[in-house]
Amino acid sequence: MNFAFLFQGCDFYTERFSRYGYIYKTHLFGSRTIRVIGPDNVKKILLGEPHHVTTTWPKSVRILLGDGALSNKYGETHRVQKRILQQALDHRAIANFVPEIQNVVQECLHEWCDEEGELLGYPCCRDLAFRLAGKVIFGMDFEEAEREKLTTVFKTVVDNMFSLPINCPGFGFHQGLKSRKLIQNQIKELLQTSDKRTTSAAVSVLDVLRNFLDDNTLTEDVIIDECVELLFAGHHSTASSSCSLLLQLFKNPDICEKIRSELNMNEVDEQSKNDLTYDVINNLDYLENVIKEILRMFPPVGGGFRKAKRTFGIGGYEVPQDWTIVYSIRETHKSSPLFPDNDNFRPERWDEPEIDIQGLRFNYLPFGAGTRSCPGEKFAKLSLKVFVIELIRGCKWDIKNPNPNLTLLPAPKPVDLLPISFSRRRSFPLSLV
Ligand code: HEM
Repeated sequence: MNFAFLFQGCDFYTERFSRYGYIYKTHLFGSRTIRVIGPDNVKKILLGEPHHVTTTWPKSVRILLGDGALSNKYGETHRVQKRILQQALDHRAIANFVPEIQNVVQECLHEWCDEEGELLGYPCCRDLAFRLAGKVIFGMDFEEAEREKLTTVFKTVVDNMFSLPINCPGFGFHQGLKSRKLIQNQIKELLQTSDKRTTSAAVSVLDVLRNFLDDNTLTEDVIIDECVELLFAGHHSTASSSCSLLLQLFKNPDICEKIRSELNMNEVDEQSKNDLTYDVINNLDYLENVIKEILRMFPPVGGGFRKAKRTFGIGGYEVPQDWTIVYSIRETHKSSPLFPDNDNFRPERWDEPEIDIQGLRFNYLPFGAGTRSCPGEKFAKLSLKVFVIELIRGCKWDIKNPNPNLTLLPAPKPVDLLPISFSRRRSFPLSLV
């Protein structure tokens, strides 16, 4: 185990990258590891499954996600389960959730504005992301008390995702396992006691998965593990990006103005029709650039884990069989020549001719690529867009410390959790769902 990795988190990687470059050896979680950065190297890894690499997350992640999770599946089983998930989260499925997503976002913003004192931005974003995940995955609103309990329990799982896998009292992993069990039981209860939960055109992921129980394509245990994974993957990453958006938009009022004028031009401004549609949202090109830019600068998933199935060459080096490989999204974005002023939050860059769309593929990959690419991309981007629209047209917000230190594992988050206060720009009605 490399303890520097645990204590310094991803600063450890950044420091190593500046010292050793695009490919270097290290030691992680007791495994000899090669860390890989840069578009060509990353491409070789991401397109290398199942030929010369396979996916293996650290033991703590594997156990906390569960055997049935997509991240722990391989070959044909992975292909079948992934296709089902992609179907449950494709653009048609997600488009039907727009009114529900808008409603949840507006409710959260109203609650934040009603709060008299100071709030903490990161837990607010985590709560929002959890509610959105609850809607899309389970087709339900958790009652407030139930939600608070679940978010607290889930926080313990997330916080111990990358931990020493020692199942003894006093160790974080042990706490994580106990919390996972509670969530597992709750999902089991949902699966067994509820019929179809969804009341609108939107069909929840659970309802889609449930259909595959009848012909034994999926088992109850797999569905439960899959839901735990989706709840984890779906909420901690979106929470991190929403929080990064709060901060960057606060620091860049000119960008907020540009978003506002795009909303005006598309009649999504304060005075006009309240209800959003998938088509209207996808017409907002500048907003698309803002989301792309936040995912470039602060990718919530910093990279992924693989294992060499056989010895192979990469970038002039040899990766020995059975070694762990960590490919980096964060350092690949940071070092890409396509983003020369890469420390600046500049959505305009996405319209400039210097951005070579052909070459972009492996220079910019917040959602990964290849067989393991993220099935939640459309849901995540839609949620972030609705969040920005409602924030910009409905709220003013004030951040006490606009330059917080960040921790980067398991996703970027301000160390001070972002003390913040909100007020209304106008009294914006809740849409009727
Ligand atoms: C901003 C939000 C998100 C980002 C940046 C993101 C990023 C990623 C990345 C980079 C991977 C690939 C990791 C690898 O190569 O091993 C991944 C995988 C995955 N993501 Fe996401 N994700 C996000 C949101 C979501 C959401 C909302 C869901 C579902 C509700 C989701 C579900 C998954 C699942 C199940 C996998 C595993 C795929 C597989 O093993 O084939 N993610 N995500």
